[in-house]
Amino acid sequence: MGMKTLDDLFLHFMKDMYYAEKQLTKALPKMAKKASSNQLRKAFEDHLKETEGQIERLERTFKLIDETPKGETCQAIEGIIEEGEELIDEASDAETRDAGMIAAAQAAEHYEISRYGTLVSWAKQLGHTEAAGLLQQNLDEEYAANDKLTKLAEDSLNRKAA
Ligand SMILES: [Fe+2]
Ligand SMILES: [Fe+2]
Repeated sequence: MGMKTLDDLFLHFMKDMYYAEKQLTKALPKMAKKASSNQLRKAFEDHLKETEGQIERLERTFKLIDETPKGETCQAIEGIIEEGEELIDEASDAETRDAGMIAAAQAAEHYEISRYGTLVSWAKQLGHTEAAGLLQQNLDEEYAANDKLTKLAEDSLNRKAA
């Protein structure tokens, strides 16, 4: 595809994130099912609900720029999800599996933070003020999800040390 202008790049990243979020709505319930810690399961379930809302915001953003919502394969998120599945399959006990899933989920959050950060700044540059606001809400939720996972990882380390 031709990406001559910032508008083209913005649309490309929008499609990339639309695809990524849809993949995550499939991955998160699987991870919730495999979680042995109740708090971790709830974190995945809560973030699934948020992710569904994020997809709606992306759809509204597509409309704001007069485009039809459409995904485009994002190899980065596919790689992160695949790696997460390997960590789940190979873990020999529940605790290791939870730790692996937290790490995989944080990789996804970091990717999303990076992409939404860029999208917010491009939306502002392009004068899409309303779109920038919607994307900022997604970005804020990804930051919060990442912080929650950091806290769960630390809690489990503290329990081990106690
Ligand atoms: Fe997301
Ligand atoms: Fe996320």
